Amino acid sequence: MKRSIIITGGAGFIGSHVVRLFVNKYPEYRIINLDKLTYAGNLANLKDIEDKPNYRFVKMDICDFEGVLALMKEENVDGIIHLAAESHVDRSIKDPFTFAQTNVMGTLSLLQAAKAYWESLPEKYEGKRFYHISTDEVYGALEMTHPEGIEPPFTTKASSGEHHMAYGEKFFTEDLKYQPHSPYSAAKASSDHFVRAFHDTFGMPTVVTNCSNNYGPYQFPEKLIPLFINNIRHRKPLPVYGRGENVRDWLFVDRLLGRPEGADMDLITYVTDRAGHDLRYAIDSTKLQKELGWEPSLQFEEGIEKTVKWYLDNQDWLDNVTSGDYQKYYDEMYKGR
Ligand code: NAD
Ligand code: DAU
Repeated sequence: MKRSIIITGGAGFIGSHVVRLFVNKYPEYRIINLDKLTYAGNLANLKDIEDKPNYRFVKMDICDFEGVLALMKEENVDGIIHLAAESHVDRSIKDPFTFAQTNVMGTLSLLQAAKAYWESLPEKYEGKRFYHISTDEVYGALEMTHPEGIEPPFTTKASSGEHHMAYGEKFFTEDLKYQPHSPYSAAKASSDHFVRAFHDTFGMPTVVTNCSNNYGPYQFPEKLIPLFINNIRHRKPLPVYGRGENVRDWLFVDRLLGRPEGADMDLITYVTDRAGHDLRYAIDSTKLQKELGWEPSLQFEEGIEKTVKWYLDNQDWLDNVTSGDYQKYYDEMYKGR
């Protein structure tokens, strides 16, 4: 079936992988990448697909309700995959207003535009879908438990029956209560509530997913992994917050195609911790595995190797995104830590 889909935030890290996937996999679909091109948006991420006939880029702020509504009408949009957001926790601690504006008001503006357009059609919400990409951070932090005094990591059995290494016995599931700790996750939590409200109040067909830390090619070097790769490249200190005990659940953003040169452990430097730093994130992926047949196709060791290799093979990309305002950002964020 032919579809017309807006992907918001398609010039960002995850969004660019989603746009590429849809443009290549569904040539009969019309894919509209709606992105404001903030510091995190980069059209160079999409060079390989920019001339495809089923792809269109539109520079627009998701907060521009009239603009979004006009675009939906012009393109007969029947699906929205919503990734646009301010996504970096450290920035949200310094500037929460921008996060509330984009993540909350921007999501509301998209929902309201989708409602106005879809309700004006004879078929209304039939065949329509609003897919909101949220984060596991809305559930707050899990504890590091030590069952029977065993120091983590230890082997545990998830509800899927599988054994794996864990740093605690509890995992995030979708029915946990929301308990965001950072301005970023508070804004994402708020946007999730609006999405649910549009489903429950107006019957809009919505889906919300709460995934864990993504890593891989095209991630902006403000996030841990690409920041460390870039610093290693320049032999700069690797700033580990607090005591470096925090646990994350890493998800490779895509499947891609040697072993890169090893990192220099001497560069590791313990710096002042992030305020409100969540201790541990860990997803229970049982539902995803049972209902969608998803399973991890890549172990972390393999994924990180591919990631380091990609950054080393694409140093021009790194040089480009770290020119301009990046150094100023870095100095302000890490000075005196
Ligand atoms: P990113 O920061 O790399 O990209 C965000 C994109 O959104 C950029 O292209 C930016 O230009 C665009 N954008 C920002 N404000 C906008 C606005 N007002 N209007 C239009 N476009 C705007 O983000 P990411 O890491 O790719 O994350 C994408 C989504 O996935 C976000 O919603 C984030 O909360 C969620 N998420 C990310 C992770 C992760 O590990 N990166 C994990 C879970 C969930
Ligand atoms: O869990 C999903 C979330 O993952 C997403 O919703 C966010 O958009 C995404 O940014 C990410 O948030 P984190 O805060 O977990 O990612 P970040 O890469 O900023 O930090 C990962 C861990 O590394 C965290 O414990 C903080 C630590 N850290 C981070 C940086 C940037 C450091 O020790 N030093 C650093 O310089």
